[in-house]
Amino acid sequence: MSVTEPRTDQPRTDQPSTDQPSTDQPSIARMYDYYLGGRDNYAVDRAAAGKAIAAFPALMVIARTNRVWMHRATRFLAERGVRQFLDIGTGIPTSPNLHEIAQSVAPDSRVVYVDRDPIVLAQSQRLLNGSPEGRTAFVQADVSDPASVLAAPQLADTLDLGRPVGLSLNALLHFFPDGRHPDPYGVVKQLLGALAPGSYLALSHVTTDFDPEGISSALQVYRSSGIPVQARGRAELQRFFAGLDVVPPGVEVPHRWDADGMAEESRITADVTDAEVSLYVGVARKP
Ligand SMILES: C[S@@+](CC[C@H](N)C(=O)[O-])C[C@H]1O[C@@H](n2cnc3c(N)ncnc32)[C@H](O)[C@@H]1O
Repeated sequence: MSVTEPRTDQPRTDQPSTDQPSTDQPSIARMYDYYLGGRDNYAVDRAAAGKAIAAFPALMVIARTNRVWMHRATRFLAERGVRQFLDIGTGIPTSPNLHEIAQSVAPDSRVVYVDRDPIVLAQSQRLLNGSPEGRTAFVQADVSDPASVLAAPQLADTLDLGRPVGLSLNALLHFFPDGRHPDPYGVVKQLLGALAPGSYLALSHVTTDFDPEGISSALQVYRSSGIPVQARGRAELQRFFAGLDVVPPGVEVPHRWDADGMAEESRITADVTDAEVSLYVGVARKP
């Protein structure tokens, strides 16, 4: 299967499998679903995604590499003993989801998913089918107000914040440009502030470091669709990990982030380039 083409083995429909959000505007979650070959997207999402792919033809490589990263980071934390996860900006369920990876390592893993998009809420049953020993919950909330996420009753019912939590912020923080509300660094700080020592932050983020022109053009499609977005460089990403013990090699492209020995295997094609991936990833532990 080509990595630059959407999957064609499933019928597409203008009626996602729920009666949820309006079709007026493209949605981050539904565009990402399209890149991953999902069916929970509308014509308006596919039109915007098509423009973004025209601007940066390897956009599917980014999406799929990012999803593989989420699996790797989750497995890495689970193998380090993390048994509780807070995944913010979950996206439309796409198996394997985070709880499936975590519970494949430790069936008693507990996962709280958070997304603001009503289509994710509508599909959230697919996030709640975890192992009998574990527990999963979904919270529809906007992380622009971290206090509301942290105060969600489902979170208190599922996670013990007195014990370590893996905070998963994959492909989320680039939707928080600098100079606007909320400050993404403040959001991350507030979330981490509520977590116990021994907790981890795992994230991925789009960068223009390898193909400034191509990525900038794709991001411009998002902006013209009303979705604020900003790529960041390595140093800006390192700031998210301030005060944490960063797992070597630090902020890196996923196919050179080798703490789990899976860097090369994580390439979705053998010859994928930094420019095609255009993502930085990283993991750090709260001391
Ligand atoms: C590109 S998807 C990433 C999905 C998943 N984390 C992954 O890496 O495969 C980003 C998700 O973040 C969600 N999101 C964007 N801004 C958000 C916010 N302010 N609060 C909560 N969720 C948000 C979107 O609805 C979307 O589902």
